Amino acid sequence: MPALLASLHSDQASLVLECPPNAPPLWRHVGARLEPSGIPTLAETRTPASFSLDQDTPFSTAPAAGLGWFGPACLAARQEGRNLLVVFDQVGVQSEANRIAIHLSDPQTGIELHQTIDLLAGGAFRFGSRLTNTSSETLELEWLASAMIPLAASSAAIVSWHGRHNAELNEAVEPMPVHAWTREIRRGISGHGGAPGLIVLDAGANHHNGMANALQLAWSGNSRLSVERDDEGFWIVSVGAVLEPGEVKLAPGESFAAPEAFLAVSTHGRNGAMAQHHAAMRQRLVWPGGQMRPRPVHLNSWEACYFDHDEERIVALAEAAATIGAERFVLDDGWFKGRKDDAAGLGDWTADPIKYPRGLRPLADRICALGMEFGLWVEPEMINPDSDLYRAHPEWALHSPGRQPVTARNQLVLDLSRTEVRDYLYETLDALLRDIPISYLKWDHNRDLAPPGGHAQVLGTYELLARLRTAHPAVEIEGCAGGGGRSDAGLVPYVHRFWTSDNIDAVSRVPIQRGFQAFLPPEVMGAHVGASPSHATGRSQSLGFRAAVAMMGHFGLELDPRQLDPADSAELAEWIAFYKRWRNLLHQQSIWLGDGADGLLWQAAGTPQEFLLFAIQPGPARNRRPQPLRLPFVKAAGACTIELLRIGGGAKGHAAHRPPLYDGPYTYDGSWLAHAGLPLPPLKAESVAIFHGKAAA
Ligand code: GLA
Repeated sequence: MPALLASLHSDQASLVLECPPNAPPLWRHVGARLEPSGIPTLAETRTPASFSLDQDTPFSTAPAAGLGWFGPACLAARQEGRNLLVVFDQVGVQSEANRIAIHLSDPQTGIELHQTIDLLAGGAFRFGSRLTNTSSETLELEWLASAMIPLAASSAAIVSWHGRHNAELNEAVEPMPVHAWTREIRRGISGHGGAPGLIVLDAGANHHNGMANALQLAWSGNSRLSVERDDEGFWIVSVGAVLEPGEVKLAPGESFAAPEAFLAVSTHGRNGAMAQHHAAMRQRLVWPGGQMRPRPVHLNSWEACYFDHDEERIVALAEAAATIGAERFVLDDGWFKGRKDDAAGLGDWTADPIKYPRGLRPLADRICALGMEFGLWVEPEMINPDSDLYRAHPEWALHSPGRQPVTARNQLVLDLSRTEVRDYLYETLDALLRDIPISYLKWDHNRDLAPPGGHAQVLGTYELLARLRTAHPAVEIEGCAGGGGRSDAGLVPYVHRFWTSDNIDAVSRVPIQRGFQAFLPPEVMGAHVGASPSHATGRSQSLGFRAAVAMMGHFGLELDPRQLDPADSAELAEWIAFYKRWRNLLHQQSIWLGDGADGLLWQAAGTPQEFLLFAIQPGPARNRRPQPLRLPFVKAAGACTIELLRIGGGAKGHAAHRPPLYDGPYTYDGSWLAHAGLPLPPLKAESVAIFHGKAAA
């Protein structure tokens, strides 16, 4: 008997569910695109297995523990201390071209679950899950998965990231687990390991080819990602927000929505999955005026002067920045009352009367008069015990009664679940935005949460951001948490950029930026040219290398241009002009990542018809001559003219021989570039060759 199916189909992938009448939909397929017509029911394909229950319980969209399902459960809930065994036997499934909506209910416990799976433009699937308590008693929710998805027995490896402040997004590749693999985030923010996400690769999959499933959770707080092997021989990936014990109590009629999760199913390897996530995030971003304008060149004041500034010093810095082409000046930490170092002031969001006796408005006006936008750093969720706010409202800080406050960087965390705290922050920030021509906020969060603020803390932050965005829709916001401690899809609807890392060393930045772009697009990846030696690592790098690495994101400066020698200063102005010339090709387009021979890495941005290619040589080459660089994404582009635009770095030391081939453009067939490869000039350590490729007319 053919199964009754609900399915979604992208260019590459199909997601197929079987819909029995009185049970949640069963997973039949998540993988390469197929036509699901006329297949038998799952029950018809499954013989009894020894030592199994008489009633078969295959993996469904809503597996519940206790009555025959022994794998991970989609929910855990209690009533009056009793663990609830849930049986969803009333089921409604609506299937449309781009959406499956599943309504499940258990009359005995009164739990209703509404699940949605949307196929988004660009190919990613978005999962939503909302639980409602229709019983007459309060329900305590311990866990509600945002998504649970089967991973085929052909899965071979898990790609994930870990990190710390100044060393975000270290990639790890691990084999599929025999039992379980878990990444649980407990620091209250998504953390320096990057977005709560992972990629699962089939054997042989790489950046360009093969099956890659990439899942990310749109959540900025605690979360759990797990991959568990089912003894049937496949794996189940589950993702969801972690709730504090007892935190979510649903009164009769109340609902709880799990954060959304995004799944890319790619038959074109990791780059295909990345493209799907970028498309999904671009639909989630809310740009002032409805569309992104070219990303302005920043100068962010932090590493140029730290806490040591006043109106004249900042104006001088802004003038130097404007002279070389910067378009937005961001005044970082140190401008507000009592903020001479990191020991005081957080919470008191008015200009420091000693550093800025005239307030910030004259400063902002002077910066705008230079033709630049004025941006301001804030850290709204934080409070220093040494602040007027804390002296007035010590109870507003997250605290555990009877315990000493746990500070980090001398600060505590405000309890954003409290309406009066959010109102105070809204009014204070709203006043700043009304009184001063501020068109940009850098919104920082410089510590982990202890005690935890739970789910409500994250929702409080989102609510505050949403309120400010509604009141000031033209203001852009940058998300930051000690660099990249909160770069996740949860924040995406509220921000327009993330500060990727406080480590601006360009060698360190290469893998950090690649990890960032697995889920988030390059136009929201803050990438600055820092000083040399790097403040984070002490390493020195040429200006060209630093600029070429920053070129791959939303470009900016994190130095005092007046401290550059004249040659570097002129070169930096050239790089800024170069970025402006090419930013439309770098942002809101496709990107591709890949590896070459001898430690070379590459990134291309644009379309197969026109792109910029960055060939990055982070360390010294060992081969006598560079090997050709294969570019699979141009395979079908036909004749393609490649021109070497510039090499960032490697100018000093022994002469670098540039083959005569690179005196002008050269035309190849795309198939040659894909299968034989682009001949490369020799590249010294810490250099980047930037090519322009264009389909020949
Ligand atoms: C964090 C940010 C930095 C800077 C400082 C200011 O560390 O990542 O860019 O804003 O805070 O204190």
